[in-house]
Amino acid sequence: AAPVVVAIDGPAGSGKSSVSKAAASRLGYDYLDTGAAYRALAWHVLARGADTGDAADVLDATGDFDFWISTDPAAYAVRVGQADVTEAIREPRVSDVVSGVARVPAVREAVTAMFRRIMAGASRGIVVEGRDITTVVAPDAPVRILLTAAPEVRAERRSAELSGEDAAAVAAALTRRDASDSAVVDFLSAAPGVEVVDSTELDFEQTVDAVLAVVAEKA
Ligand code: C5P
Repeated sequence: AAPVVVAIDGPAGSGKSSVSKAAASRLGYDYLDTGAAYRALAWHVLARGADTGDAADVLDATGDFDFWISTDPAAYAVRVGQADVTEAIREPRVSDVVSGVARVPAVREAVTAMFRRIMAGASRGIVVEGRDITTVVAPDAPVRILLTAAPEVRAERRSAELSGEDAAAVAAALTRRDASDSAVVDFLSAAPGVEVVDSTELDFEQTVDAVLAVVAEKA
């Protein structure tokens, strides 16, 4: 049987990555963090000394973009060539420019084709998270979820993750990135047939349980 695809979209700081990873572990499924591919490409463009705001520079960088990601939820890792970029792609210098890289249509097409190959290679099932999974990458997935949370809560969670960063600056960067991203794909409202899980009032475990409840109902 084809692997079961659980598609999860949501804005920055919604808890998407940690919740998706935990849900995948509990289901015994693979896990694919699509944002990591865009982040790794942004890292690669920066490493080449190229301009992340220039579509031609970005496209040029895709030519020698040797990306690898683990789909084991218990052993998350990302590499570009020989470099382990698992931590580096979370740095603000990458977060601040990733939207520019992700808005190049030819980049989205190439990356989407890669995601579909990874999905097809999953064994039992795969939890795929990002911004356009429920609408573009896997619109036919049996389980499609939009994970949201109030903006204040998202900013709080993100600044707790990036300890030492100024909370107001984190909130501002998050708002900027969401505004820029939502000009490319709408991940702030649910497409028809997409279940909304709002984590504003839920703790981590409750959010994972809410996602698993949707999976149990739909898959
Ligand atoms: O999910 P994460 O915040 O790591 O995503 C990083 C960036 O990658 C987003 O801000 C967005 O620009 C881009 N992205 C995207 N489509 C996806 C996943 C991420 O455009 N499916």
